[in-house]
Amino acid sequence: GASLVRTNERTLAMIKPCTSGRAAEVIAEIEAAGFVVCAKKEHQMSVPQASEFYAEHDGKEFFKGLVDFMTSGPVVALLLEKPNAIKEWRALMGPTATSKAKEEAPDSLRAKYGTDNTKNATHGSDSFVSAAREAAFWFGGPVLAAEKTLAMIKPIVSELN
Ligand code: TYD
Ligand code: MG
Repeated sequence: GASLVRTNERTLAMIKPCTSGRAAEVIAEIEAAGFVVCAKKEHQMSVPQASEFYAEHDGKEFFKGLVDFMTSGPVVALLLEKPNAIKEWRALMGPTATSKAKEEAPDSLRAKYGTDNTKNATHGSDSFVSAAREAAFWFGGPVLAAEKTLAMIKPIVSELN
């Protein structure tokens, strides 16, 4: 009979410096929501690293404050896996601004752990292209691209066999 294939997807998450002291608690919530933590790395970013990571925001009024904050302490980067992970992780985080998260998504991580509109607890890739770039930034190599290619060629290989 017909079978429904639910393909796992990966995304890149960060627990930001304001919240990395409570990383174990946040990771427990992430796992309780059904994500698998495939890789984890704790690191305090340099100014050039944070500027590169957030290059899309270079020139915006909040850029310097964002880079200052992101380099103020350790970040815990996570490679997360789940079906529809990119969208699901953004949903678990909640809206960017902590004030909006508290109003509109009180159970979200940003509502629970965020303290202001910059110190908003967590980061999540916003698309497959961002996830591939950001996962490579933290964990090296085209980790997501390789996974996607494999998923695409698997059915062809099994058809040939
Ligand atoms: P953005 O990519 O717009 O949000 P998200 O993290 O939800 O993808 O912005 C990146 C980060 O920049 C955001 O998490 C917090 C910070 N930021 C500010 O400090 N002020 C702002 O007005 C905005 C839009 C973002
Ligand atoms: Mg963003």
